[in-house]
Amino acid sequence: VKNKRNFRNRFFASAYASLSRTSTFQSMTDPWRKQLANEARGVVLEVGSGGGQNFDFYIPEITKRVEAIEPNPYMIAHARKQASQAKVDINLIQSSAESLPFEDGYFDTVLATLVFCSVDDPLQGLKEIRRVLRSGGMLLLLEHVRNDNQAWAIIQTMLTPIQKVIAGNCHLNRDTRSIVKSAGFIIRSEEWSGGGIHPQVCMVAIREDQ
Ligand SMILES: C[S@@+](CC[C@H](N)C(=O)[O-])C[C@H]1O[C@@H](n2cnc3c(N)ncnc32)[C@H](O)[C@@H]1O
Repeated sequence: VKNKRNFRNRFFASAYASLSRTSTFQSMTDPWRKQLANEARGVVLEVGSGGGQNFDFYIPEITKRVEAIEPNPYMIAHARKQASQAKVDINLIQSSAESLPFEDGYFDTVLATLVFCSVDDPLQGLKEIRRVLRSGGMLLLLEHVRNDNQAWAIIQTMLTPIQKVIAGNCHLNRDTRSIVKSAGFIIRSEEWSGGGIHPQVCMVAIREDQ
């Protein structure tokens, strides 16, 4: 089992590095990466930083420093170069969203792009994020999610078993917006793009304080 997971991690890290260098992929994601990085104030946690696809977008006048967590060691290997070339300090840590090695309220902002489709326990991951975010802190997300249209949602569900295997546990049918709210966030703004099996939402959420 461990070998199989290792192989998948390695395969996905390498395939995703190639995919994320294509102009089609970049035209679909870079404008949103830039928009979110522009909001990433103070001490920032980036969750599921992958090959460091966001690192270039952080701006020193806005972002003080970034703690970037990522569970896949092969992704971290790809991210090292990006981290060394970034304009802000980026510290790479091997860890998962579900259990974050930081104290309560440590971060001003948490950013994650294209991550919660593949997190094993997204509710636990988002609760952990809420825990490490300071009161009033912002959660910045770019995610592809379940389509509100039932017919598309059924197609997404049918394709998800294959997608999980070829794309690093990615669930096409995940209702991440609802999970964000269940974890204790208020969605302040959202912008949609794409559609069909791949509707994408770029959102700013804030920590809800009881
Ligand atoms: C599609 S890639 C996105 C990478 C990068 N954030 C980007 O925007 O291109 C999904 C990433 O989520 C990571 N991931 C999967 N499960 C995770 C978890 N439980 N906690 C944190 N990251 C996770 C994967 O290892 C992978 O790097």
